[in-house]
Amino acid sequence: MLYLVGLGLSYKSDITVRGLEAVKQCSRVYLEHYTSILMAASKEELEQYYGKEVILADRELVESGSDDILHDADKEDVAFLVVGDPFGATTHTDLVLRAKRQSIPVEIVHNASVMNAVGSCGLQLYNFGQTISMVFFTDNWRPDSWYDKVLENRKIGLHTLVLLDIKVKEQSIENMARGRLIYEPPRYMSISQCCEQLLEIEETRRSKAYTPDTPAVAISRLGSSTQTFKSGSIKELAEYDSGEPLHSLVILGRQCHELELEYLLEFADDRDKFRNDVVADQEFFRPAPWVPPQEDDD
Ligand SMILES: C[S@@+](CC[C@H](N)C(=O)[O-])C[C@H]1O[C@@H](n2cnc3c(N)ncnc32)[C@H](O)[C@@H]1O
Repeated sequence: MLYLVGLGLSYKSDITVRGLEAVKQCSRVYLEHYTSILMAASKEELEQYYGKEVILADRELVESGSDDILHDADKEDVAFLVVGDPFGATTHTDLVLRAKRQSIPVEIVHNASVMNAVGSCGLQLYNFGQTISMVFFTDNWRPDSWYDKVLENRKIGLHTLVLLDIKVKEQSIENMARGRLIYEPPRYMSISQCCEQLLEIEETRRSKAYTPDTPAVAISRLGSSTQTFKSGSIKELAEYDSGEPLHSLVILGRQCHELELEYLLEFADDRDKFRNDVVADQEFFRPAPWVPPQEDDD
């Protein structure tokens, strides 16, 4: 059996009882180690907690070496641990399909994900549109395909969850070119960098998906003891020190319910300004009234 086990968001004990029971009976335990991090537990702490060795699975192992992970999984139990939920903003469907093609049974053990825990900022999950990922810009690679999705969400008034890039076990271009297995220290995008990149792309695209004054909420270290929220305009959050990773951002949609706003005001430095920004944003993006087609008299 291949078990895909969600670990939840922060602590070693966030694993579910069913997940822990599955891990304990497995002969090999892999921890997916490139899309997220378990903020309050190291590999060693997990090994002690499970009573098992934990093998770190980087992108290369998962994408090119999945045969190693699936080896003998038709005869013995193998666990593949994913921080959050195995299907929350991560695509491990490929591994599942490969297992199925080899007639290896698969069981999924779900857990909390950033995709649902984000609701603890007070915004209704029902009112979210498409989620986007913000990657680190480089000198010659500044992708902006996410901009169209923000525009679509904002046109119909929905909030946009922005997931921020993390780089774990990445090689520099030079080391890659020379075939040197030297890895850069891990990097996690901050809220301020994400907001700066948002502002830069609005400057170049100019379709007014949002403005510097559009309200947003910064969400840091969800589910940990230092979980923090900060409400502000994109321009203000571009100056915000969000502290240790992990971080996400929500760009507000026009359909911000009064109760959602009340909740967000708790996280604003200047409540009146934030409320005014929300009202101004709603006015700015108010769609033209819908005009029904003329009916023919004859
Ligand atoms: C590719 S997603 C993986 C999501 C994970 N599988 C889950 O279900 O939560 C990773 C990104 O989600 C966001 N994220 C994940 N956990 C978070 C947390 N506890 N607090 C804030 N943001 C988080 C960060 O932007 C991070 O870079």
